[in-house]
Order: sequence, then structure tokens, then C-alpha cells
Amino acid sequence: MKRDLISIRDLSKEEIVSLVKDAVTLKKRHSLRLPYLPLKGRVLGMLFEKPSTRTRVSFEAGMCQLGGSAIFMSPKETQLGRGETIEDTARVLSRYVDIMVLRVYSHETLVRFARFSSIPVINGLSDLLHPCQVLSDLMTIYEKTGMLEGFRVVFVGDGNNMANSWINLATRLDIEVVISCPEGYEPDRSVLETALSEGARVRVSHTPYEDVKGAHVVYTDVWCSMGQEGEREERLKVFRPFQVNSALMEAAGDGAIFMHCLPAHRGDEVTDDVIDGERSVVWDQAENRLHMQKAIMLFLLGERP
Ligand code: CP
Ligand code: NVA
Repeated sequence: MKRDLISIRDLSKEEIVSLVKDAVTLKKRHSLRLPYLPLKGRVLGMLFEKPSTRTRVSFEAGMCQLGGSAIFMSPKETQLGRGETIEDTARVLSRYVDIMVLRVYSHETLVRFARFSSIPVINGLSDLLHPCQVLSDLMTIYEKTGMLEGFRVVFVGDGNNMANSWINLATRLDIEVVISCPEGYEPDRSVLETALSEGARVRVSHTPYEDVKGAHVVYTDVWCSMGQEGEREERLKVFRPFQVNSALMEAAGDGAIFMHCLPAHRGDEVTDDVIDGERSVVWDQAENRLHMQKAIMLFLLGERP
């Protein structure tokens, strides 16, 4: 039976922990420049409806470093742009490549693709979820703090795909997740209700300076996700009190590190002094995308490093 990674909830707690450990092993091996080519001859298909720097390049580079190769496609360059269905595309691409990563507007597109695909499918971001990002974030927290559980993440900003992914992670690990967002910009209701019904330690709040107190991680993301460009003016006003600046980091206390999945809009959701400051781990966080993508591909293809 093929496995997909559409949501963090596709994984068990044990699988999440071993993905982090595998990614750490791969990172070490990469730093020693030891050749490791277990995916020689395998091909990763990449279908991206939206722009990407980190996800695209870390998957492509990661696949090459493991001995395989990658083919990047955007809908415009394929027959999808001329009306071929996502289901037919999934059936055909499954005959050519070994594993797929998709970045889509509608989460439903990904679910439909995975249903008709006979190979593993990875969510490289949808409007609802960004599971690869939250897995590599967990790896970064583990590296920086030694904790895989028992920490408190305060996500400050929009209740978007990243916020939803953090909530999903709290359904698998014993962590506390606080989403500190403006009213009207809460995370997805069904993601939240599922987590609460399973007893996950998640909370939605609207008071950033109170919410961040005692956080191990202050996390933020753009106020305007891809596809929401038309709402930019309105959002800039509503989100202003949720900016992560030095005053907010001070309110968090000395123990908090700063994380951002990037790309950052400096001066909006985060100020230069915070993202470039001592408590920011964003560059290691971005690097870890590479190591985690490799761990994910190996896992879904039935290999272990
Ligand atoms: N964080 C992240 O997914 O970045 P990209 O949009 O550059 O892939
Ligand atoms: N929430 C952002 C994440 C980008 C990596 C977006 O969807 O655009």
C-alpha cells in the first residue's frame, strides 16, 4: 500500500519522531560530504501551481543528492492548463515517476491527485496545510532545544496553512500550540475541532502580548498568503498589532527563540532586528527543509538512512 504525506495526521507519533532523527542523520552525513545514493534511478515529479524557493529547491537538490533526479512542472506547461483533469494527470504521471510533490491552491486538488495516483504523493503546501514545513520546524526545535515534546509554540499572525499544520502536530505530539491571531482570522474550524476533540493542547487567542509569555518558540508567517494578494491592504491594518518586534520578543521572555517559515515580509509580520537578531533561527530552519525533504522521500519510498 503506498503512503502519502498530505497532512501531518497521515503519520503516527513514532513516524514523526523517526523522520526527525533520520533528517538529523542525513544532515550529519551531508556535512561530511559522504556520498549516499539510495535513490539512484528514481524520479521525483514536481507539480507547482504557486511560486516557491525553499520547497522547490530543497526537494530538487535533495533528490539529486540521494542519487535520483527531479522534473519540475507548472500547470501552464502541462495539459492541465488546457483542461486535462487532475485525476487523469495523476494516473499518467504515476506511470513515469516514482514519487510526486505538489504545491496547490485548493487542498482538494491534492486529495484528488493522491486518490488517483499509484505512487506516494507529498503536500508541498496547499491553502490548508504545509506538513513538510512543520516537520522540518520540529527538527530545528529539536536541534536548538533538545525537545521533541513538552514545548510551547505561540504562532502569532494569520490562522493559515502553517497555523493549521501546527495544530495538526499537536494531535500527534505532546506539545502546546497557541494561535494568537486577530478575530476573524482564526485557523480552519475543522482542523481545530478535530484537535480539540482529541484532547490536543491547542488554544486560539487574540492577545499577542499575553499569549507569548513563557513561549519556547515565537513563530510567525506572512499576513497575506499566496492567493490572498487582493486582501493585502485590509490585512496590513488588521494584523499590525500582531507584528513580531523586539517588544513582543521581550514579552515572550528570555527563553523564546524566533521562527519563520519564510519568505518574510520584513517590516510587516516581523521587524529586521528580530529576524536578524540573536534569537532568530530562521536560516537553520530554512536549511533543515533540505534534510527533512530527504528523510520524507526515503520514508515514503521504503528506505531508511
Ligand atoms: N517556506 C516555504 O515553503 O518557502 P517557499 O514558498 O519558498 O517554498
Ligand atoms: N502561508 C504562506 C506560507 C508560505 C511558505 C503561504 O501560503 O503563502
